[in-house]
Amino acid sequence: PSPPTIQLEGRHYLIDEWTNLSSHISSALPRKLHLQPSHPLSITRRLIESRFPGPTYQYHNDLSPIVSVHQNFDSLGFPINHPGRSRTDTYYINKDTVLRTHTSAHQADTFRSGTSDGFLISADVYRRDAIDRSHYPIFHQMEGARMWSRDACKARGGVPAVIREEIESMPKHGINGASEEPLRVRWVEAYFPFTSPSWELEVYWQGNWLELLGCGVVQQSLPKNADIPDKIGWAFGVGLERIAMLLFGIPDIRLFWSLDKRFLEQFKEGEISRFVPFSKFPSCYKDVAFWLPSSSSAAGGQVSFHENDMMEIVRNVAGDLAEDVDEFTHPNTGRKSLCFRINYRSLERTLKNDEANSLQKAVKRVLVEEFGVEVRG
Ligand code: PHE
Repeated sequence: PSPPTIQLEGRHYLIDEWTNLSSHISSALPRKLHLQPSHPLSITRRLIESRFPGPTYQYHNDLSPIVSVHQNFDSLGFPINHPGRSRTDTYYINKDTVLRTHTSAHQADTFRSGTSDGFLISADVYRRDAIDRSHYPIFHQMEGARMWSRDACKARGGVPAVIREEIESMPKHGINGASEEPLRVRWVEAYFPFTSPSWELEVYWQGNWLELLGCGVVQQSLPKNADIPDKIGWAFGVGLERIAMLLFGIPDIRLFWSLDKRFLEQFKEGEISRFVPFSKFPSCYKDVAFWLPSSSSAAGGQVSFHENDMMEIVRNVAGDLAEDVDEFTHPNTGRKSLCFRINYRSLERTLKNDEANSLQKAVKRVLVEEFGVEVRG
């Protein structure tokens, strides 16, 4: 018998014990929201691109989301035990192949291609994560990078001076008069395996500091391995959904995936407009509490169950009908059982209680059949 495979983007991939890709995820691969001209994510992408003009910057907007573990982690110096590599966090097609978890997965290859001094890469990225109004297992990032020759940098007063000079020379007008108040930003020291030093940029928005992007001076091993050891690089990675949600006033990240005309027809290529909610449909909360089976291998231990496993089950059963999932502690028991509250709500219509009940039943069935849990009550 031929070994089991999975077909993605017209190619077959062997599956193995690392495979954890669900159909909810794989069916979204062809959507390419950042390339639909009147989609808010595409409008946001184009707006940022317009501040990084060619020919200095080259744009790459259609790189395949299927990358090797080497591209996504090894080429960037992620240590072998980095939590981001775990199957609870990353979608594996097989042990060597993943759905990229960030656009940085293309840094090494793009540096090596050496076709320009700078680039912008916009793409869909994939992470197993919580379910709530600002998290979705697929989102979009833009990676930006700029390289200079080391000698030229020295002559211009060193890397920090060059970066400051470049940033100050960029167009700085506000967006659609949105910035009546002066923009407050702060740079917070951060850590990424492939940049040093590294920072996160935060902006002050409606009373809170919001993290918008990660950035830093690219570790010298990257240009070195790309055969451009005499270059020095600066890179950033920015989340497009977060910016689009602020620019357009989009309150729920699931809306980006909506095929409803009432959403899609509100937006026009090249224009930032305020999202007009078409309605708010009622929530339907359902709780599930269960005990994990004790595993025979680890004495007194329990079968491992990650919060993200719950998220994945709910996504597979309910798709975009799940608005958020919270873990909570059951009040009247000393014994540790897991409890989750699922909020079912459609963005497009009123969900019938029967429908929510049958989704909840299906979630419980998967918990029992695939994880062997004992559902309480
Ligand atoms: N790839 C990083 C992330 O997803 C962001 C980043 C990009 C940081 C480029 C530094 C330089 O969190």
